Amino acid sequence: AFDISSLRKETGLVTLDEGFVNTGSTTSDITFLDGEQGILRYRGYPIEDLAAKCDFVEVAYLLIYGELPTNAQIEDFRNSLRRHSLLHEDLRIFYDGFPRDAHPMAILSSVVGALSTFYQDLVSLTDPQVVDTTIHRLLAKLPTIAAYSHKKSVGQPFVYPDNSLSYCENFLQMMFSVPSEPYEIDPDFVEALNLLLIVHADHEQNCSTSTVRMVGSSDANLFASISAGICALWGPLHGGANEACVAMLERIVRDGGDVKKYVDMAKDKSNNFRLMGFGHRVYKNFDPRARIIKASCEKLLAKRGIDDPMFDVAKQLADTALSDEYFIERKLYPNVDFYSGVIYRAIGIPVEMFTVMFAIGRLPGWIAHWLEMRRSPGKKICRPRQIYTGPQERAVVPIEQR
Ligand code: ACO
Repeated sequence: AFDISSLRKETGLVTLDEGFVNTGSTTSDITFLDGEQGILRYRGYPIEDLAAKCDFVEVAYLLIYGELPTNAQIEDFRNSLRRHSLLHEDLRIFYDGFPRDAHPMAILSSVVGALSTFYQDLVSLTDPQVVDTTIHRLLAKLPTIAAYSHKKSVGQPFVYPDNSLSYCENFLQMMFSVPSEPYEIDPDFVEALNLLLIVHADHEQNCSTSTVRMVGSSDANLFASISAGICALWGPLHGGANEACVAMLERIVRDGGDVKKYVDMAKDKSNNFRLMGFGHRVYKNFDPRARIIKASCEKLLAKRGIDDPMFDVAKQLADTALSDEYFIERKLYPNVDFYSGVIYRAIGIPVEMFTVMFAIGRLPGWIAHWLEMRRSPGKKICRPRQIYTGPQERAVVPIEQR
């Protein structure tokens, strides 16, 4: 039998906290989160305030550089992002090789990883100019990489970035414009997109951010670390939940809108079904991001006169679950992924791109954490311990005697 006391003698005291439920992996100056009270602040600024008064690029600047930018600073930053938004032509060969039905998250992580073959200069952090250029390159190119993955999947020609457009306008243009007809960028969509990206921009030590810090702790370069973070985000229990949530809501609509049936199914432990977009490791009261997105959803749909049955079903599902003992007892609330899909659908973004949208939003947070970790005076390589539960020492029996 497994004898933990003998191990303690050999290894000293090792705490076991599966899923790191209560273990802090670092100190951080970036994001404050109070799960009981539903508070989220980037660098001290409440998420509600940032969502109301800033655009995504300003928030990215805040997360990465620690302060809100002045007019001159943001202009420089925006110009730099415009300058770096084009992809190296040789990277297009990658897209020729990917199957047309490849998941865009797979393309995103591969191409971001491949950026380190084109830009090899970020080895140490000694030259601030190199650090800035590398960060700006990645921020600028991610929307281009993402839009190309969409164009590949629909078989349309790639649309190059346009330096006269803002970050979000440019993304919409690269996603939706086709050579045969003019594309008009809708300011309501730009506003909604800015807001969605802002609320996704950081969330302290979540799975993908911890991955970026963990990989970067070995001094792996920024592109490699972010590529790993993208893979972590892809899973349905993390960023992939927005895709899974829309699939679930569509299923309920197709099924006649019987939300009670799905709430009951989520309570039933004999199956693996969970309400996607519900529950959170840290928020045990409400997710402030879900509130902001729900309000934005209502505003956008009303303004555009869109009647989306999926939004009605989402609201009914939330109401039913929130008054159910099972969800009350476990403190399960709609999370950031619950309503975001409704906005993405209204903008015209296909479901398989939803987690990619999350990645574009989360990128400044990942970068800020990567930098903070690399610059920390007490930085160590991340190397968790374990409690070994395998066999005690035993002798190898020669193969002919096994
Ligand atoms: N539907 C039904 N039951 C749920 C749900 C759900 N969505 N979420 C949690 N529960 C139940 C669990 O079955 C468990 O019940 P039990 O105590 O009777 O066994 C209890 O609530 C606690 O759940 P855990 O899985 O232990 O909570 P944890 O903090 O580990 O997980 C998570 C959080 C992964 C977000 C979980 O709530 C979940 O799977 N939600 C659905 C997926 C989702 O929306 N993920 C996105 C998260 S936000 C983000 O990453 C951006």
